[in-house]
Amino acid sequence: MIKVAFYDTKEYDRASFEKLGNEEISYKFLDTKLNIDTADLAAGCDAVCVFVNDAVDGAVIDRLYALGIRMIALRCAGYNNVDVKHAYGKIHVTHVPAYSPYAVAEHAAALLLTSVRRIHKAYNRTRDFNFSLNGLTGFDFHGKTAGIIGTGKIGRIFIDICRGFGMHVIAYDKFPVPDSDIEYVSLDELFTRSDIISLHCPLTDETRHMIDASAIEKMKKGVVIVNTSRGALIDAEALLDGIKARKVGAACLDVYEEEADVFFEDRSGHILNDEILSRLISMPNVIVTSHQAFLTEEALENIAETTVQNILSCFHNDGICDNELCYRCGDIEACKKARKQRCF
Ligand code: NAI
Repeated sequence: MIKVAFYDTKEYDRASFEKLGNEEISYKFLDTKLNIDTADLAAGCDAVCVFVNDAVDGAVIDRLYALGIRMIALRCAGYNNVDVKHAYGKIHVTHVPAYSPYAVAEHAAALLLTSVRRIHKAYNRTRDFNFSLNGLTGFDFHGKTAGIIGTGKIGRIFIDICRGFGMHVIAYDKFPVPDSDIEYVSLDELFTRSDIISLHCPLTDETRHMIDASAIEKMKKGVVIVNTSRGALIDAEALLDGIKARKVGAACLDVYEEEADVFFEDRSGHILNDEILSRLISMPNVIVTSHQAFLTEEALENIAETTVQNILSCFHNDGICDNELCYRCGDIEACKKARKQRCF
């Protein structure tokens, strides 16, 4: 039996893993996030399963390794919260590279439509029998320019959605898709030409705060910024300044730089200590959802299925798992996975 401690689980996580079931894996569901204070809850387990806001840094990895943990199974795509370099040689790390890119791209579109057409305002008004249209003027998507940063699985689906609305799409990616019909431009050109900017790239040292004060300075007045990727791609303080200066027309945020202590929990009875988040939420042209873009039935089912497969592959036979990650992945010379071997 492979024993797995599942950190930061909610009702919907448990339901999807329990529904799938597997007689070779025993689940230990924990409410708490993984950090150095909670690592010992995994004692007696073979693996841990973590999500986007579990902090799996070097100290946590060393503690898990000392406890005999040999696998970290991320039940998400992004892995910026795991020090994969530190884990190398000690603990195998896997992720779920794609569970439903449609879920995330469609949520980005939902946020964008809601914001630009003021649906959130209209919903509240009509519930109060206020049928006034004052202040609800939006703009047509048709004919506008959408700038997409990151043209991977989610970015490309979002491009199709934008084209469906009749938008002109330009894109920036560090690794453009070869021979595609996507019009790639430099990041600066994307900033200056786009009416709508949507982020679909991973969080790395290079992309941290890619939307900062100087990027916002280059943007069109009234630009709408959509972020369903990772919060720290945007310098939240600079965004707030851009909104206050009326430079940024609207922001649609499913992720936030300091979300780890706030998102996924009911804080309605508490006073929020995060001044920037409070101020952003108070703005009439900002919509915040709580890292919800992945949350569809299809995505939860796929996450559970792939995570279970990753765990079984890691502990069985030759231990080779297509979804294993290490800091050498992608480096043609060094990547063992590319040669159908374990990362270490
Ligand atoms: P992907 O790996 O298919 O695509 C990422 C794209 O970003 C690739 O084309 C890559 O070349 C590009 N990229 C890498 N470095 C870049 C850079 N420095 N500048 C510009 N582009 C760069 O990933 P996928 O599945 O499309 O996911 C994108 C992001 O969405 C993930 O990294 C994750 O952070 C986020 N995400 C958010 C979810 C949510 O619930 N809000 C759920 C799932 C993913």
